[in-house]
Amino acid sequence: MLSGKNILLIISGGIAAYKSLDLIRRLKERGTGVRCVLTAGGAQFVTPLSVAALSEEAVFQGLFSLKDESEMGHIRLSREADLLVVAPASADLMAKMAAGLADDLASTILLATDKPVLVAPAMNTRMWEHPATQRNLATLLEDGLRVVGPGQGDLACGEVGAGRMSEPLEIVGAIESLLIGDAAAAPLKGRRAIVTSGPTYEAIDPVRFLANRSSGKQGHAIAAALARLGAEVVLVAGPNNQPDPAGVMVHDIESAAQMLAACETALPADIAVCAAAVADWRVAGEAEQKMKKDGSGRPPSLALVENPDILATIGQLNGGRPGLVVGFAAETEKVVDHGQSKRTRKGCDWIVANDVGTGTGVMGGDENTVHLITAQGVENWPTMSKDAVADALARRIADHFAAE
Ligand code: CTP
Repeated sequence: MLSGKNILLIISGGIAAYKSLDLIRRLKERGTGVRCVLTAGGAQFVTPLSVAALSEEAVFQGLFSLKDESEMGHIRLSREADLLVVAPASADLMAKMAAGLADDLASTILLATDKPVLVAPAMNTRMWEHPATQRNLATLLEDGLRVVGPGQGDLACGEVGAGRMSEPLEIVGAIESLLIGDAAAAPLKGRRAIVTSGPTYEAIDPVRFLANRSSGKQGHAIAAALARLGAEVVLVAGPNNQPDPAGVMVHDIESAAQMLAACETALPADIAVCAAAVADWRVAGEAEQKMKKDGSGRPPSLALVENPDILATIGQLNGGRPGLVVGFAAETEKVVDHGQSKRTRKGCDWIVANDVGTGTGVMGGDENTVHLITAQGVENWPTMSKDAVADALARRIADHFAAE
């Protein structure tokens, strides 16, 4: 959707500048032209070389650079882009923008532009909450600038609170809304989705449990991608170390039984994506007290019972079945064959089948190679980051509803 658009990205001084490198990558992945301006503060955190390498463009730094001015004057820089993005926007740069100061290249461009401007603030929480910053923010909003974030959370300075720069993909979402309009950027607006993610823990006794290696990366990325397309998303998540995706309602659970109960509570929905690695079995009769060795040297025997199948339960609902039910098939051999039979057996519409065998690095890794199995056939997707798989799946889901 952003292909062929041009962004002028202004990177000012703040530790969040490292996230701007990823933002450049995300935009380039989408076929967007990115030209960057680095303030003196920004250059303390990221180097012009890394910015130039990722953007594949010269980096502009000095207002009085004869070379920069002769090749691309600051007026042209400010007018040639479709959108100016300031990320991170420091408290200092926001103050300059609100006051209309123009004492370096970034602030001069921002004063000279006739293009929309998106600001992604990043600073310490006290600085963000300071009346001066809030006054400047109000002025910028009154001037028609758009603001994304900041989010809440752990800040690099060790404090906790508001001030964290929005994640690169949230900024991409805000850029899409601005450049192509909310309707096109949010095709799933008005749709409700349930996503399961992560492993489940099945208790043996109060201190021990059965689990698996799922990290929750793929499921969380899908929840985030659906939310970016405007869906109202409920994420039912087993124990994991992923940050809660922005704009998603998260229900943390432990066991398969709790995951099923949370999904049933979250129904009705238009979309269900079951990406969790649900434990197939739980221990029959979980011990109420910690199990002790009995001195015989013999290990205890654990009897297992089968867990409810959440995907099959949702896929085979008689009333209130979501319009689109998507499951995953984690396989170590005959990936597509097993995926196809799982699709029919569990009553779901699509299966995302992937090879999780030893050596693939999928469990816990950042990349995934998947096959999308539908009633129409099998699509073999190239190896992509889990975020890219999530984006592509969310877009396919949006296309499915658009075609209805
Ligand atoms: N699933 C589920 N509830 C379960 C088991 C699996 O919702 N109790 C879902 C998963 O979230 C996934 C799909 O079913 O979307 C397939 O999971 P997978 O582990 O690949 O298959 P299993 O059903 O466990 O079958 P098998 O272990 O025999 O491959």
